[in-house]
Amino acid sequence: MHFEFTEEQKMIRQAAKDFARNECLPGVIERDEKQQFPKEQVMKLAELGFMGMMVSPDYGGSGMDTVSYVLAMEEISKIDASVSVCMSVNNSLVCWGLEAYGSEEQKKKYLTPLAQGTKDGELYIGAFLLSEPEAGSDATSQRTTAEEMDDHYLLNGTKNWITNGSSASVYLVIAQTDVSKGSRGINVFIVEKNSPGVTVAAKENKLGIRGSDTHSILFTDVKVPKENRIAEDGFGFKFAMRTLAGGRIGIASQALGIASGAYELALGYSKQRRAFGTEIMNHQIIQFKLADMATRIEASRLLCMKAAWEKDQNLDYTMSSSMAKVYASETAMWTTTEAVQIHGGYGFVKEYHVERLMRDAKITQIYEGTSEVQRIVISRSILK
Ligand code: CAA
Repeated sequence: MHFEFTEEQKMIRQAAKDFARNECLPGVIERDEKQQFPKEQVMKLAELGFMGMMVSPDYGGSGMDTVSYVLAMEEISKIDASVSVCMSVNNSLVCWGLEAYGSEEQKKKYLTPLAQGTKDGELYIGAFLLSEPEAGSDATSQRTTAEEMDDHYLLNGTKNWITNGSSASVYLVIAQTDVSKGSRGINVFIVEKNSPGVTVAAKENKLGIRGSDTHSILFTDVKVPKENRIAEDGFGFKFAMRTLAGGRIGIASQALGIASGAYELALGYSKQRRAFGTEIMNHQIIQFKLADMATRIEASRLLCMKAAWEKDQNLDYTMSSSMAKVYASETAMWTTTEAVQIHGGYGFVKEYHVERLMRDAKITQIYEGTSEVQRIVISRSILK
């Protein structure tokens, strides 16, 4: 066992750090306030090769490892979690599943531009459509249907809380093809957003990650070509679960970045702010908060790295990714709240960034499986 990063991993981390400081920090408060999608930033991420980081160069990707992905996600999430969620969904929930289970034609047609993040000079990203108004944690209760016709499937239903809902060009849609088979009657389809019958509903007005565009998507008699079903009949639920196991490494590293961003701000502030005749870092109550933050963040980082390493070694990472997500997201919520507390009144206003990080932290305990769902996954792994 060793804890050293390779030279390449260090370079990727530095590139992500520079990108976050130079491209994401300017305007981050305004984008949050206006709920503005960070299109310019995502286009630059695409130029860096960060929209298909782990995809093989054969399909337009960068061929990097999952450890590098965690490093990049942490650095970007320190500054702007609205940018990093867009990156995470495209990398882990869209590109990964397409590369692992898509046909050669699907990979050539869809994965290649998705991994590059652009097509004909325009933004080209994907979204993952599993959640529904009545199927969140209980993901097998899909109401969206895909009825098999002669040469296509007819798609009807509503998906909720879709990250990249309006900015994506391609959707991976999970739908029920045979209710009588339960989770084995679920399939996953590639659906182009501009297909007739697809409606993108109004953008959600959110507590955090306000730059990211979250929408409901409605399907009314959408014709999906048969060749757009991914993998064999009935594989859709397993596809979703396996994809989410990797996605949770991405969200865990996003939570890690939000926590470490807040910690760095609190540390810096405690060295400058004076109270009771000295810098507040000299008060033990602040020192202990910083010590606890640093410890929990380091533990989160190690859990993220372990899950990423297991994925890179082709080991089973289902339990590790859930452990990383539940721990890092709870650390993010706790650390950001303490960072606001250390900042006092300044922490409650936007210019100091920590209040935004606190709002952004909350979603990491909810999306890609709530903390409660992660505990289900972990306990099932322990008890099986
Ligand atoms: N890998 C492969 N197969 C798996 C699996 C995994 N990790 N987990 C479950 N399965 C299989 C099971 O083996 C079973 O298959 P068989 O019938 O062949 O045995 C089938 O899937 C059904 O599994 P369960 O009986 O365990 O299903 P369940 O109803 O008990 O649900 C659950 C389990 C863990 C709660 C699951 O429903 C779940 O993860 N829910 C949360 C969903 C989620 O994360 N949603 C996030 C939405 S996406 C999002 O947020 C994206 C975004 O935009 C940011």
